[in-house]
Amino acid sequence: MTESNVNAQPTSGEAEQRDERQHLYKKLQEYREKLLEAGGKDRIEAQHAKGKLTARERIEKLLDEGTFQEIDAFMVHRHSDFGMDKSRFLGDGVVAGFGKIDGRRVCVFSQDFTVLGGSFGEVAGQKVCKILDMAMDAGVPVIGLNDSGGARIQEGVHSLSAYGEVFYRNTLASGVIPQISVMLGPCAGGAVYSPALMDFIIMTKGISNMFITGPEVIKTVTAEVVDAETLGGAMAHSTISGVAHFATENEEESFATVRRLLSYLPLNNSEPAPAIEPYDDPNRMDEGLNAIVPANPNEPYDMKQIIEKVFDLGSFFEVHANFAPNAIVGFARLHGQSVGVVAQQPMMMAGAIDINAADKIARFVRFCDAFNIPLITFSDSPGFMPGVAQEHGGIIRHGAKIVYAYSEATVPKLTVVTRKGYGGAYIVMGSKHIHADLVFAWPMAEIAVMGAEGAVNILYRKEISNHPDPAAERARLVAEFREKFANPYRAAASGYVDDVIMPSETRPRLIAALELLRDKQVSQPSKKHGSIPL
Ligand code: HXC
Repeated sequence: MTESNVNAQPTSGEAEQRDERQHLYKKLQEYREKLLEAGGKDRIEAQHAKGKLTARERIEKLLDEGTFQEIDAFMVHRHSDFGMDKSRFLGDGVVAGFGKIDGRRVCVFSQDFTVLGGSFGEVAGQKVCKILDMAMDAGVPVIGLNDSGGARIQEGVHSLSAYGEVFYRNTLASGVIPQISVMLGPCAGGAVYSPALMDFIIMTKGISNMFITGPEVIKTVTAEVVDAETLGGAMAHSTISGVAHFATENEEESFATVRRLLSYLPLNNSEPAPAIEPYDDPNRMDEGLNAIVPANPNEPYDMKQIIEKVFDLGSFFEVHANFAPNAIVGFARLHGQSVGVVAQQPMMMAGAIDINAADKIARFVRFCDAFNIPLITFSDSPGFMPGVAQEHGGIIRHGAKIVYAYSEATVPKLTVVTRKGYGGAYIVMGSKHIHADLVFAWPMAEIAVMGAEGAVNILYRKEISNHPDPAAERARLVAEFREKFANPYRAAASGYVDDVIMPSETRPRLIAALELLRDKQVSQPSKKHGSIPL
């Protein structure tokens, strides 16, 4: 016992102490009740009237029940200009903390539109930065629920500083922890850049908008008249701009999308991609696969039917479904193992690769590689999309991103050429030449510099025009070219295709290859970072 303990005298009686404690506990209880009021009863009612949940209700719906641990609930802003001293709300417009989704740890923040329109100021910045730092230290994903009028105008440069600090952390966290943004309100200005720096954006139809400048500013500057939904609604961004990866019908569906997405991802980049207990026969050979690709190479077919049959049943989860639908990207499971799927869609633009498809594929490949998710590619493309708009839009630099992404990827890379493998499209879509680990081809694969018709036109122009029956000669030469070159065996003869397989054999072959490559190690030249053509 120390001297100070011996000399310590009770300052009050037992009952007084109990009363004092009760008083302190009551005060905390009052604070907690106040927290739930957010920006006030009226504002909560207004939020509900718009068909929107509050920041806290959203967190409750997203996380496993009872797992949310809030931090910084007592933070308030320190500004007084523009009457701000009368608008101090506990938590200052963002609810932040951590919890669990399907039993796995996550960090989360949720902007509160009932507090000054969810506007983002100094304190919101500090709270979001703290959560991002915690997520990085803990090595867990971060999910942002966004509903904000952008930089808090009254806080001036402090708001801009707050955004900058968040953007900086989003960038450092990129490729280290998965970052997911859910858009649940009218997100303007700075409110869209943190999501844009994250890995996935989920927009909710009818209630979410994203734009740098809204309809009013656009009208003033460019005289264009456009409404918010047409300009920056879920459909605009999931189909036209490609900013959003998912467009959902309602908030519940947005949260379900986050939960499903996370199930395919590791918590951070030092973990392997997750695997679940396999539920589908690894040796299943679906005979239906043999009847999907038409014998006529000009007839389209639905690549998604192939994906559905090869991967564990029901496991395909498409990303960016409405944007650049001539390409397909998404997650799936192969014998329980999470994989990234990249493919062409011959039903759209014959599977040609255009600017948007190139961006979509390259970004997805890089994400998968950053998070140790093996890549399975189904390639069937007649080539890059011709046209002045494509050339002037920079198809050269956009297409180069695919080569770059596949070449730098060190995860297991398996490719199946289902039909056309022509020219540049053949090379960039995970070919052996840019170091895919294993390339399989189906018997109907055509691997050549270009299609038979185009090749014959170039090689035999004179012979055809000088022939007494040009059409018949052309048809003969096309048939001859097809027989000689439009098959997988030339490539297989040189080892560029590792095996020609029956379509029905694809699943067991991919599973065996993935098992072989499970612990693949590749060392690359040391560098600060590459310079991907942007
Ligand atoms: C301060 C804001 C605010 C903001 C909204 N509010 N946005 N307060 N700073 N940026 C306040 C409103 O004054 C209002 O307060 C309350 O939030 C609700 O807003 P309403 O306009 O009544 O709601 P609604 O009709 O639903 O419209 C929502 C909205 C609109 C579309 C978001 O408020 C809007 O256009 N806000 C401004 C958007 C914007 O331009 N932000 C700055 C971007 S520049 P009261 O008390 O009256 O109810 C930026 C710079 C950073 O972010 C760039 C970094 C790259």
